[in-house]
Amino acid sequence: IIGFRGNLIGRAVIEYCEGGPPVKNFISIGGPHAGTASVPLCGSGFLCVLVDALIQLEIYSNYVQAHLAPSGYLKIPTDMTAYLQGCKFLPKLNNEIPSERNITYKERFSSLENLVLIMFQDDAVLIPRETAWFGYYPDGAFNPVLPPQETKLYTEDWIGLRTLDEAGRVKFVSVPGGHLRISRSDMKKYIVPYLTPSCGSSKQSIRRILSY
Ligand SMILES: *[C@@H]1O[C@H](CO)[C@@H](O)[C@H](O)[C@H]1NC(C)=O
Repeated sequence: IIGFRGNLIGRAVIEYCEGGPPVKNFISIGGPHAGTASVPLCGSGFLCVLVDALIQLEIYSNYVQAHLAPSGYLKIPTDMTAYLQGCKFLPKLNNEIPSERNITYKERFSSLENLVLIMFQDDAVLIPRETAWFGYYPDGAFNPVLPPQETKLYTEDWIGLRTLDEAGRVKFVSVPGGHLRISRSDMKKYIVPYLTPSCGSSKQSIRRILSY
């Protein structure tokens, strides 16, 4: 699976799908894996003013969670209680809620052969950009940005990121450019090698179907 504006959905396919096709390699291009702390302000038109006000006031309300997709991965580090209670998508995907952790998600995710996490050095859309590597702010503050290995998701191994990393199966890749501005040469270097055919024709045909 290649995640490109579908990074969290790609991960959800891996973690949640009952009897889904086996995924060998997950290449994630600029994904908000640990959340994003940016409120996507949309502009100054009437609807935008309304939308922005809604997001800022009530991002974790049922209404906003049901109608604005990005609110499913907005994580305001100074509002973690509301996030864990109200955010409908990311806390579950990341096994963040202590009473609701599901080992099956971890088993599935840690069965990947390769997890390629691509971060953009000048990403101004994802706040912080290190979320593409599962790095994030500590609970309760906007600094410093913790490297992935210092987050609780990693140290307590909620979804198997640590398991994968310790097995040498995570590639933390940093490329120049703004959000999703990956160059052709970096695609060839960091993506194409993971798409080469390997044994098993059924696996290959599955891969082909997914790529369309
Ligand atoms: C964990 O997730 C699996 C797969 O979605 C599901 O079958 C199982 O019931 C869940 N377990 C718990 C304890 O919720």
